[in-house]
Amino acid sequence: MKVLLINGPNLKYLGKREPEIYGDSTFKEIEADLKDYTKSLGHQIESIVSNSEGEIVTAICEKEYDALVINPGAYTHYSIAIMDAMKYARGLGKFVAEVHLTNVFEREDFRHEMLTTKEADIVLMGGGVFSYFNAISTAAAFLDKNLF
Ligand code: DQA
Repeated sequence: MKVLLINGPNLKYLGKREPEIYGDSTFKEIEADLKDYTKSLGHQIESIVSNSEGEIVTAICEKEYDALVINPGAYTHYSIAIMDAMKYARGLGKFVAEVHLTNVFEREDFRHEMLTTKEADIVLMGGGVFSYFNAISTAAAFLDKNLF
């Protein structure tokens, strides 16, 4: 089974970007740990990081995978296009997990509106990088048990 990991805008700058909010680990370090973890659970993983809404939509709709783990970054708050792509993926029977490093509801009001979460099977937020590990372990459990 294959996990598609997508990280949206500004996430490739993790480690340098607002470390007091997002932590000191670089994107490359986090990505390497998530790849190792997924493989240790017996699954394959492909990782895509993109600042571009269109590229993210195309990846969600056209890549081959069984479970999507996505941090849409700021697009979560207003991208109907990514929300629709996630709906499409679920319609094809894929498991969709949305991840956020921070609890956006503790943050500025403009982050409280979330569109993409409406098309996620599960949403994990506020746990820093552990939000990703938890999403991957839940996705793996669903894949292993054929629960979706
Ligand atoms: C984020 C939360 C978003 O509001 C923000 O725009 C991000 C990161 C998170 O992981 O906490 O880029 O998705």
